[in-house]
Amino acid sequence: MGSKMEELLATKSIFFAVIFILQYILTIESASSISARKPLANNSSGPVLYPPVQLYMHDDHVVVDNGIFSITIASPQGTVTGIEFNGIDNILNDHNGESDRGYWDVNWSDPKNPTDKLDKLIGEHFDVITNYENQVELSFKRYWKISQNGNRVSLNVDKRYVVLRGSSGFYSYGILERFKGWPDVDVYQGRIVFKLQDKLFRYMAVSDERQREMPSFEDRSRGEPLDYPEAVLLTHPSDSLLRGEVDDKYQYSTENKDNRVHGWICSDPPVGFWMITPSNEFRNGGPVKQDLTSHAGPVTLSMFFSTHYAGTDLGMEFRDGEPWKKVFGPVFIYLNSVASAESPTWLWADAKEEMLMQTDRWPYDFLNSSDFPRAHQRGVVSGRLFVRDVALARADSAFIGLAPPGTIGSWQVESKGYQFWTRTDNQGYFEIKNVRPGQYNLYAWVPGYIGDYMHPSIVNVLQGSRIRMGVLVFHPPRNGPTIWEIGVPDRTAAEFYVPEPNPTLMNQLYTSQRTESFRQYGLWDRYTDLYPEQDLVYRVGVSNYETDWFFAHVTRKVGNKTYIPTTWTILFDLENIEPTGNYTIQLALASATAAELHVRINDPRGVFPFFTTGLIGKDNAIARHGIHGLYWLYNINVLHTQLRAGRNVMYLTQTRALGPFRGVMYDYIRLERPPRS
Ligand SMILES: *[C@@H]1O[C@H](CO)[C@@H](O)[C@H](O)[C@H]1NC(C)=O
Ligand SMILES: *[C@@H]1O[C@H](CO)[C@@H](O)[C@H](O)[C@H]1NC(C)=O
Ligand SMILES: *[C@@H]1O[C@H](CO)[C@@H](O)[C@H](O)[C@H]1NC(C)=O
Ligand SMILES: *[C@@H]1O[C@H](CO)[C@@H](O)[C@H](O)[C@H]1NC(C)=O
Ligand SMILES: *[C@@H]1O[C@H](CO)[C@@H](O)[C@H](O)[C@H]1NC(C)=O
Ligand SMILES: *[C@@H]1O[C@H](CO)[C@@H](O)[C@H](O)[C@H]1NC(C)=O
Repeated sequence: MGSKMEELLATKSIFFAVIFILQYILTIESASSISARKPLANNSSGPVLYPPVQLYMHDDHVVVDNGIFSITIASPQGTVTGIEFNGIDNILNDHNGESDRGYWDVNWSDPKNPTDKLDKLIGEHFDVITNYENQVELSFKRYWKISQNGNRVSLNVDKRYVVLRGSSGFYSYGILERFKGWPDVDVYQGRIVFKLQDKLFRYMAVSDERQREMPSFEDRSRGEPLDYPEAVLLTHPSDSLLRGEVDDKYQYSTENKDNRVHGWICSDPPVGFWMITPSNEFRNGGPVKQDLTSHAGPVTLSMFFSTHYAGTDLGMEFRDGEPWKKVFGPVFIYLNSVASAESPTWLWADAKEEMLMQTDRWPYDFLNSSDFPRAHQRGVVSGRLFVRDVALARADSAFIGLAPPGTIGSWQVESKGYQFWTRTDNQGYFEIKNVRPGQYNLYAWVPGYIGDYMHPSIVNVLQGSRIRMGVLVFHPPRNGPTIWEIGVPDRTAAEFYVPEPNPTLMNQLYTSQRTESFRQYGLWDRYTDLYPEQDLVYRVGVSNYETDWFFAHVTRKVGNKTYIPTTWTILFDLENIEPTGNYTIQLALASATAAELHVRINDPRGVFPFFTTGLIGKDNAIARHGIHGLYWLYNINVLHTQLRAGRNVMYLTQTRALGPFRGVMYDYIRLERPPRS
């Protein structure tokens, strides 16, 4: 047992949550009910006081120390080179160079000379924005010059770091800006990256179910790369329990709406390092866009925008001198610890609680930037959504949000502006809070129904405005009554059959977690194992989509390297044919990757399919273990002369068979009879 003070020091950070409450009421009395742990106060009745935040400036770096942790930042570069906390000299991997430990970067390309480039946004000017006892805010800027065109992404950059008194962690945000007349540029990805000490951080947590002991970077280098370099079979891991497993960073991806806290745990000393994202307003592609979290390295990311699970349609293309400015973040990098006797996994529970505290504090009121509006400078948009399909119903748990003005569904490929999403309650009511002033459209979709809602008028949010949209009614696409349907319209393929992985290519995490078994590696090749000769046949009224409909319409492997197109067959019976009006197929796809889907009815060999999607999709969800990518909806007209009384056959052919990763995932298919006139 150490001294009492040492014990206090070891446990101080977990009290961060408590401290904010205490700062308001300025008495420790209320803390006595919480537990025996005590924050850093000298006595039990006085105010909770932490030491002031100190800023130390040196020639080529600055140090900010608030008594709980200290951070070292290269100056003027603005890369984080050190984080000292709880007896660990540097949480970050100091075998890496100074610009390869904690940094921002963007992927970009010059459309006149398109090659992917990475720019670490290294700062050239250092400014102290705020420096007093309760807060230090630092800025590392870079100004773009025309002479740098082609070599540097044409953006001005302002990277900020903020440390508060008594706070066990730091904030980072970035302001990216370009001015009118600047040259064309494509920007694909922007993120902040932290590379931790590999000897210390071995246990990763992404959610309650998704946490495990991870392989190291060396384990991966000694392994065998699989169908692409990110996926490695661990053949010689230092921890023999990991032998024979697959590691791939994409197995830890998460939808934006759930990507709120993730990170790493060190067991000795017991310390956690967490990336907390308190808002999705600056992320691209809306609430179900997926992205990376943490992965073997050990690495922790906050992806601000990317093309993952979506494709280059989400890249930001700036043309004709388009000006632009956007604030990314702040995100909060949280450090916590427990006394050595306690379970390190408690750190995860504490990090989740911290995430809730940070989310409640959003929008932060302490940033010193006029580009980040505070709560009173933002607006609220509210209303109630109904859905009229076969009957009028309240939109229960609908996704509803504001995104830049566009067209139906355009939010899912939108990256330049801000988006604000929420869910309706079970009565259809919604309130979208903390909306930045600006012009938006209101978009929605309702689980259980196909299609997208968009309110026809622009929503103009002003400072402090409270806009009531009133009662809104979404009419999902429907031409006639349902004859049959396959799946559930929820924009994922999760309800379909997800096979067991090849036993030699497993991630043990997803064998015990059957709900996310789609994250296993190599499921695309299981189609060939299950359907070696004949493709999938689905009998309406007999088959069950949960067991008889493979989650992805992929290619079939023949021999070692050849892949061929596959045709899925749906058999259905019609008692009689209605001689007036048209039938409709509602075809909703949850994903598409360089695919082309042909639809034929009762004529498997017709030269012309009666419907084709054309070549669509770049979301790569099959290779990245997603259960969806982007959403596609087709309303396909079927003439009654194409159908017959009795047995009918629908053929779905994915014609583009180059490689294992090409294909589509279905969300839902419905055949409708002609409308009753
Ligand atoms: C505790 O702090 C309060 C306020 O600073 C002070 O009035 C009180 O005397 C202190 N008590 C002890 C036991 O030090
Ligand atoms: C608490 O005690 C320490 C050591 O005696 C002292 O350095 C510190 O200033 C004290 N803090 C407060 C808030 O009085
Ligand atoms: C971004 O750059 C990194 C590093 O060069 C590279 O590995 C990655 O593939 C790039 N991503 C894109 C989308 O270009
Ligand atoms: C905010 O930043 C400006 C410089 O950008 C500075 O002049 C001002 O003092 C800062 N305010 C606070 C409260 O630190
Ligand atoms: C598959 O690869 C193995 C080993 O490279 C080779 O021996 C075999 O002939 C190949 N089979 C086909 C059908 O190409
Ligand atoms: C049925 O579809 C055909 C072909 O698209 C179209 O020309 C016709 O107007 C439609 N009939 C009705 C009643 O909608």
